[in-house]
Amino acid sequence: MFIEKFRVESPNVKYGEGEIESVYSYETTELVHEVRDGSYQWVVKPKAVQYQFKTDTRVPKLGVMLVGWGGNNGSTLTAGVIANREGISWVTKEKVQRANYFGSLTQSSSIRVGSFNGEEIYAPFKSLLPMVNPDEVVFGGWDISDMNLADAMGRAKVLDIDLQKQLRPYMESMVPLPGIYNPDFIAANQGSRANNVIKGPKKHQVQRIIDDIRCPLHLSFRVVLWTANTERYSDVVVGLNDTMENLLAAVERDEAEISPSTLFALACIMEGVPLSTAVPRTPSFPVSRLIEMAIKRNSLIGGDDFKSGQTKMKSVLVDFLVGAGIKLQPSRQQRWMNLSAPQTFRSKEISKSNVVDDMVSSNGILYEPGEHPDHVIVIKYVPYVGDSKRAMDEYTSEIFMGGKSTIILHNTCEDSLLAAPIILDLVLLAELSTRIQLKAEGESKFHSFHPVASILSYLSKAPLVPPGTPVVNALSKQRAMLENILRACVGLAPENNMILEYK
Ligand SMILES: NC(=O)c1ccc[n+]([C@@H]2O[C@H](COP(=O)([O-])OP(=O)(O)OC[C@H]3O[C@@H](n4cnc5c(N)ncnc54)[C@H](O)[C@@H]3O)[C@@H](O)[C@H]2O)c1
Repeated sequence: MFIEKFRVESPNVKYGEGEIESVYSYETTELVHEVRDGSYQWVVKPKAVQYQFKTDTRVPKLGVMLVGWGGNNGSTLTAGVIANREGISWVTKEKVQRANYFGSLTQSSSIRVGSFNGEEIYAPFKSLLPMVNPDEVVFGGWDISDMNLADAMGRAKVLDIDLQKQLRPYMESMVPLPGIYNPDFIAANQGSRANNVIKGPKKHQVQRIIDDIRCPLHLSFRVVLWTANTERYSDVVVGLNDTMENLLAAVERDEAEISPSTLFALACIMEGVPLSTAVPRTPSFPVSRLIEMAIKRNSLIGGDDFKSGQTKMKSVLVDFLVGAGIKLQPSRQQRWMNLSAPQTFRSKEISKSNVVDDMVSSNGILYEPGEHPDHVIVIKYVPYVGDSKRAMDEYTSEIFMGGKSTIILHNTCEDSLLAAPIILDLVLLAELSTRIQLKAEGESKFHSFHPVASILSYLSKAPLVPPGTPVVNALSKQRAMLENILRACVGLAPENNMILEYK
């Protein structure tokens, strides 16, 4: 059964004016490697740590600023939110289609809250804690093309024409702010659309972005998301981007090897505005020391690259295979997509190749230490596919007694229609996460989550995690982490699927 709303009543939860406080006993373990009976042994000691959560339930007026607003993702998301807000329906060759949020974890998925009369009871994911209603979000952003959002939606060729006609009046007046253009970092075919750019030295460009972020004064909270083109991979250069100080000095000197995305990231971190990124290694967070700076300034960053299509399948499939005791062997993946510059392929390939590492290293029965099933990833530029990306993946596994099992997946996905709801989730969850504070037993003060937002990893292909933290790629674990943290905030136990009451 599905219910729309619920309220938790428990001695562990207190509802105050504009906030919810909860106490949560976190059951975990402590491992020690010590000498017992004359030899080293691993000893696992269960322990419980009490956490207190405090969540501000006042939902702000949210402004979402997209870098690459006029692109396929930006225009599709803006159009989709307006269509939902205005309750638009349109005629397709199959039926009358209504606007919806299918593909959004926050808007279209559910959580189990318990059982009643022998039936499982589910509620919307978004009923866990007060979140910004997408109808209330104000969209804006930058693009190197000055095309208004109505024309950009037409250029993208993603949405049905009858829907586009109805949306045009709402989108014609939406025009992106000038972006930062550097042809050295993105595909050459972008040059012809770059008619809306901030001129001048890099220092000035960063300041313009900061001014733009500050400008819409009626918004009480802003989130920036990079959904512009994937930039080419940039290396660590000693004296340029190897330390935070060197990076800032390089901007001051107007050095060439600093990408537009790095300048946007600097502006966001300086302004303390959460930044998320939809594309791989753009900016190259780990190499450019931006993480270090974000941590110092407690400015939220999350990313990178969305887990929308085939990578999502891979993180589910490999979890299933390795979890079932089946040995995945080297796999082959071929993508046909509308991504033209070979130098940006490397960024994509890097973000796709490490998706299985944690799952492989979790099973020492199947894999020797250091053994690794390689993935061969080939990306082909096929402009004809437009927004409808093709992927063909072959997974061969070793099964019982040397046998082999091969799974071949073919996936055609309308990329922006998968990505747009994920962008929405990212910004809504990034905002929500800034309203949650926590305190472990023994800590004197409440604090926010770590600025490297690993709780958003369900949505990212190559999740950014704080230094020294394990990367979790398995999709079910990532979703459980997010759901269970939100459950803890309202005093609900984590979903452990034991259902002991029926055993
Ligand atoms: N599944 C995923 O992970 C996933 C899904 C969709 C898209 N993406 C990535 O998201 C990005 C955007 O996808 P899209 O389909 O919207 O692409 P797109 O080419 O349609 O849009 C990109 C937009 O960014 C603008 N732009 C380029 N450089 C800019 C800059 N420096 N400042 C401001 N604007 C700039 C371009 O003019 C364009 O309008 C791509 O890099 C793509 O690889 C990832």
